[in-house]
Amino acid sequence: MDSLVRSLLLLLLPVVVLSEDLPESWQPGNYTNSTSDALRFLSDYNSTAEEVFFYSVSASWNYETNITEYNSKLQVKADLEEQAFIQAWGFKAKETFSDKFLDSLPNPKDKRLMSGIKVLGAANLPQAEREEFNTILSTMERIYSTAKVHPEPNISWSMNPDLTGIMARNRSYKQLLFAWEGWHNAAGVPVKQYYPRYVELSNKAAQADGYEDTGAYWRSWYESETFEQDIEKLFKTIKPLYLNLHAFVRRQLYNFYGPKYINLKGPIPAHLLGNMWAQTWNNIYDMMTPFPKKPNVDVTNEMVKQGYNVTHMFHVAEEFFTSLGLEAMPREFWEKSMFVKPKDREVVCQGSAWDFLNHKDFRILQCTTVTMEQLMSVHHGMGDIEYFLQYKDQHVGFRSGANPGFLQAIGDIIALSVSTPNHLHKINLLESASSDAETDLNFLLKMALEEIAFLPFGYLIDLWRWSVFSGITTPDNYNSDWWHLRTKYQGICPPTIRTEEHFDPGAKYHIPGNYPYISYFVSYILKFQFHEKLCQAANHTGPLHTCDIYQSAEAGTILKKVLQAGSSKPWPDVLEDAIGTREMSASSLMKYFEPVTKWLEKQNVNETLGWPEFAWVPPIPEGYPEDIGKN
Ligand code: SER
Repeated sequence: MDSLVRSLLLLLLPVVVLSEDLPESWQPGNYTNSTSDALRFLSDYNSTAEEVFFYSVSASWNYETNITEYNSKLQVKADLEEQAFIQAWGFKAKETFSDKFLDSLPNPKDKRLMSGIKVLGAANLPQAEREEFNTILSTMERIYSTAKVHPEPNISWSMNPDLTGIMARNRSYKQLLFAWEGWHNAAGVPVKQYYPRYVELSNKAAQADGYEDTGAYWRSWYESETFEQDIEKLFKTIKPLYLNLHAFVRRQLYNFYGPKYINLKGPIPAHLLGNMWAQTWNNIYDMMTPFPKKPNVDVTNEMVKQGYNVTHMFHVAEEFFTSLGLEAMPREFWEKSMFVKPKDREVVCQGSAWDFLNHKDFRILQCTTVTMEQLMSVHHGMGDIEYFLQYKDQHVGFRSGANPGFLQAIGDIIALSVSTPNHLHKINLLESASSDAETDLNFLLKMALEEIAFLPFGYLIDLWRWSVFSGITTPDNYNSDWWHLRTKYQGICPPTIRTEEHFDPGAKYHIPGNYPYISYFVSYILKFQFHEKLCQAANHTGPLHTCDIYQSAEAGTILKKVLQAGSSKPWPDVLEDAIGTREMSASSLMKYFEPVTKWLEKQNVNETLGWPEFAWVPPIPEGYPEDIGKN
């Protein structure tokens, strides 16, 4: 591998000098391998990177909030300039500061920074391939974000809000099937032609940095030799709870849809779980409620009744963060974010938080609607912004989460408090804060439909992608391997025959969007570990699931320290400083869900756990798709 890297370096070297894409003012200066020059290099890199990244992040923002051919070209151009910058400075660092020399620097953090600068990513590719790679990424994102389903020639449904709403609220087997199949065909199929070349170029770039493939590169962000085994172990810990949740949900769906469509020993058809990807099941909580006479812990209707609007949802979230002593959102956030889907243009609707790296411009892009689920997403996104605000004065190379899972976890930690009946009562969305055992079970089941249901999904997306990057899964097996994992881990099956003509992974944003996914799995484990510690700091007494850290300055202090560190230290150090352990563990999560685990086990005494009839697929309803108007 080493020799491959060296030969590529030699081949690419002249391009650095001649790079037409990099303006003079963004070129690196001259440096010798002395400590003072290394520090000067890092400081120059920081100020130049802030300019370059501001420019490329702005181009991406412009494209994602207004998808046009023109904006795509500008984005590709800006990405090329960013890559030219990464290449020029990366080469300069490699050329001037050997690893041996970096070991002699007094502050080990400087070596950490320099090692990051030496990783070139797509900037390893020759110019023509870089351009091709950036264009493929931009194209896949456009295909996904502009895909539509046409129930009739003159009607079109986009993912947000149409299909999301249908999947969440429609209870007709046929209509759900139509929406599901329509989306998977419209968004996934056209992506397939680009995916093999994307994989090839992405691997070529990662290999030039010395990684076996892109999967190995992505996993390297977790700085652990045993990362894959560790997450497999975490998954095994939660699996019995998942099997119990799955069996309970399958029984309720059986009661509703009947034996024709639900096999009590088989996987569940993927379109019946309240979400296009069956990744969270809280939208079918109404069909699962253990004690329906108790107050409704899903406050969507209450929000609508009270006339909640989107801006108010962001203010509610901000108020929680500031109650912990964390930052209020800056002026630019309120002025420049895109909180609602515009009517006059195509946009990327997948929610995202943006750091423009200029210390003051932080934005959210979200096609927000007024639901409880979206209120939690608002907290998620604002957690990212809070991270950006807290680490904004770190070197640019340290402006990221301690590992990618930390970044995803912060807002979700807050959402764990916000969702409690106790807190919903405080913000006037639930009439009473009483926490009798039955209301608790309602609440915990709803949380399990959100949190536990997600875990196998959060795990398998990158299992599939790692297998694609390593070459085990080839284009001939993309879809069958995808469904193998979906059935193996989630216990779901496609509701209709899917072949290699289809490309169902492409119908999930993060695949065409080139966004790693294991960070979500990691964050779903970490957030409960943090929650337990923050609850102790907030002097919470009683079961973990009743804890609300609202207004706890002590909890805020712990969080602030984590956020301010960014990625300047290995994540186990950050975790240890904050909660006293260096390991990820599912024990807090299991503790949180203990009452509902016991309850589910009782409900399931006569159920078959798991899906021994692995290959089962449901029949196509009669008259489908001609009469989808009827139930
Ligand atoms: N944000 C991630 C997704 O949309 C995890 O919830 O899939």
